[in-house]
Amino acid sequence: MRSTIAMQFLLALATTSLAQVYDTYGSITALAGTANDSDPTILGNYYNYWKLLNNKTTWDLTRSDRLPVTSPKTIPMLGYRSEAIIEPNRTAFMIVDMQNFFLHPKLSPYAVNGRKAVQPTLNMIDAFRGMGSKILWVNWGIDSFDLVTMPPSFLDGFSTNDQMNTTFCTEMGTLTEDNGTTIELGKKLCRGSWNARPWGPLDPAMVEGLDSGTDLYFNKNRLSGLWGSQTPLGLYLQESLTTTLFIGGVNSDQCVWGNLIDAYFKGFDVVYVEDCAGTTSPWYAEEMVRYNADGDGFLANSTYVIDALNKQK
Ligand SMILES: *[C@@H]1O[C@H](CO)[C@@H](O)[C@H](O)[C@H]1NC(C)=O
Ligand SMILES: *[C@@H]1O[C@H](CO)[C@@H](O)[C@H](O)[C@H]1NC(C)=O
Ligand SMILES: *[C@@H]1O[C@H](CO)[C@@H](O)[C@H](O)[C@H]1NC(C)=O
Ligand SMILES: *[C@@H]1O[C@H](CO)[C@@H](O)[C@H](O)[C@H]1NC(C)=O
Ligand SMILES: *[C@@H]1O[C@H](CO)[C@@H](O)[C@H](O)[C@H]1NC(C)=O
Ligand SMILES: *[C@@H]1O[C@H](CO)[C@@H](O)[C@H](O)[C@H]1NC(C)=O
Repeated sequence: MRSTIAMQFLLALATTSLAQVYDTYGSITALAGTANDSDPTILGNYYNYWKLLNNKTTWDLTRSDRLPVTSPKTIPMLGYRSEAIIEPNRTAFMIVDMQNFFLHPKLSPYAVNGRKAVQPTLNMIDAFRGMGSKILWVNWGIDSFDLVTMPPSFLDGFSTNDQMNTTFCTEMGTLTEDNGTTIELGKKLCRGSWNARPWGPLDPAMVEGLDSGTDLYFNKNRLSGLWGSQTPLGLYLQESLTTTLFIGGVNSDQCVWGNLIDAYFKGFDVVYVEDCAGTTSPWYAEEMVRYNADGDGFLANSTYVIDALNKQK
């Protein structure tokens, strides 16, 4: 019995998977008090706090008392909180669902606002890579295990006939581009299928970033990639010590909002980048997102973010 357990232990050591391994030993360096009321500029505790500077106009998000800083950047915001200081090494730009399924004109003809967000998104990708912040691609990528746990409501929501034979991971047939090229769409939002890949110029942008290590890709199986106690995206954010998320994608009020609200619930700083997001829902759905994102974090526009970053190079 004993030797079997020892054998299993040795076997476990020998077969440890080395994919995306991080040393998380230093993520909590000491136990410290949870609040310090005597410093009126601090919101939070030793582990997770904002510092309110300059007569309450600038939120310092760097957590620099606890963690090292590289080259913090001051970013103008559009909403109630008008300015933030971010640490590039702990900041990421999250791009949600900018996939063929949601953006290709022949698959989603009404996604005009989503397609408008593509160029600002490409601009943000360049700017964020330039300051050393990660780009996180967070997309639907269903597999057969996900299908077992998928609630009926989701299955119906993605079905075109209220039956299983058109929902997630059913064959979507083909599409013919204007130039005559025929494309196999593959299984609906299923991992590895063409329809689940980023749309247009975003696809080569992602491939380039994954190859060079500036970008990371995460499958999700609900609107949010951060639901529940643990997801690959959630673990990455925790282990990389990421604190601050700029968020764009489609649809603003559905998957983008799902990720934003879960990130907010879990203690990350959330920045909704208005012109990098879009929706096919009615205008009031977009207004809801902006109104609440302003309360939960920050509102930003890629143009002003990039201008500010260029001035601080
Ligand atoms: C609380 O904040 C005050 C003012 O910044 C500082 O002097 C004091 O050392 C802090 N106390 C703790 C326990 O961090
Ligand atoms: C802080 O800012 C507010 C609003 O801009 C202003 O009314 C107030 O006089 C400022 N206070 C100080 C001490 O600068
Ligand atoms: C932050 O900096 C450390 C040390 O240079 C590096 O190992 C790590 O990959 C960086 N994290 C991110 C998210 O870029
Ligand atoms: C789905 O199944 C129904 C029969 O229940 C059939 O009429 C329909 O053609 C099927 N649709 C597809 C896309 O296979
Ligand atoms: C046809 O159009 C698609 C979409 O614009 C493009 O990706 C593809 O490269 C084109 N194919 C040819 C042969 O021009
Ligand atoms: C945000 O930037 C876009 C260009 O990316 C611009 O068209 C738009 O007017 C800006 N919005 C605001 C509120 O400044």
